[in-house]
Amino acid sequence: MTLATSDIDFLRDLVAKHSGNVIAPRQVYMLEQRLAPLAGTIGLGDVPALVAKLRSTNDANLSNQVAEAVTVNETSFFRDMHVFEAMRKSVIPDLMKKNERSKEIRIWCAACSSGQEPYSLSMVIREHFPQLASWKVSIVATDLSEEMLSKSRSGAYSQLEVNRGLPAKSLVRYFERKGASWQAKRELSELIDFRRLNLTTPWPFLGQFDVIFIRNVLIYFDQRTKADILTRMRRALRPDGYLFIGAAETTIGLNVPFQRTEIDATVCYRPNSQ
Ligand SMILES: C[S@@+](CC[C@H](N)C(=O)[O-])C[C@H]1O[C@@H](n2cnc3c(N)ncnc32)[C@H](O)[C@@H]1O
Repeated sequence: MTLATSDIDFLRDLVAKHSGNVIAPRQVYMLEQRLAPLAGTIGLGDVPALVAKLRSTNDANLSNQVAEAVTVNETSFFRDMHVFEAMRKSVIPDLMKKNERSKEIRIWCAACSSGQEPYSLSMVIREHFPQLASWKVSIVATDLSEEMLSKSRSGAYSQLEVNRGLPAKSLVRYFERKGASWQAKRELSELIDFRRLNLTTPWPFLGQFDVIFIRNVLIYFDQRTKADILTRMRRALRPDGYLFIGAAETTIGLNVPFQRTEIDATVCYRPNSQ
């Protein structure tokens, strides 16, 4: 079934309001594809019936479910490997020097999707920095989607998912076979605190971080929303912290308090001095 233009416009507005995600014309097919199962789950026959319910009830909970259902959750282990290399070679060694007194390192992995990114960070820490076992290392991993967070918390990945980016050596070292899937070991998951957080609304106080990963999500926002999120992230980042955005993302054209720098092959952003 093809959705009426008025229903498409209604859904695009609703998604923009609840998650900031801009549904590009080439992604409109996703509305039908992703929302048909949601309509079925809640006992509505099809997407036009779902739109009719949304129009008549203005149900905030249902609106959030719609916004979450149309998020793009593409991810993989060690996505853009050079970023993890920069963490291993430069960032973590630098933080170990700077935070020698507090013995604490805090990382925020914003828009973590199904968890491969924070588990990859956890592996870098466990594999290469045994000295940090006595430190307080924490990775706060957040996402808008409850479904993605539940998958992340489970720490269970299919063969297909581990085939994407996870070296065989790390698979056998940090995961256990559990039926048809692979279960992340506790030594990885114990570093990670998964929480729901919508980047486009005011977020709760999370403290300050040494490193923020906000990769492959800015592309779904308009310029104003990107700038607003990055400006607020500056306040959540220590003055000498590190920010990583996606390989295909840029701050060009945005008035944000960061300066671009490079660590080997990796682009990284550092706060402007204030
Ligand atoms: C393409 S994935 C990126 C995953 C991972 N960071 C990576 O680079 O592989 C984008 C994620 O952003 C999340 N997302 C979209 N809009 C969001 C919002 N307003 N607040 C928080 N997360 C959001 C989606 O749920 C999705 O899991």
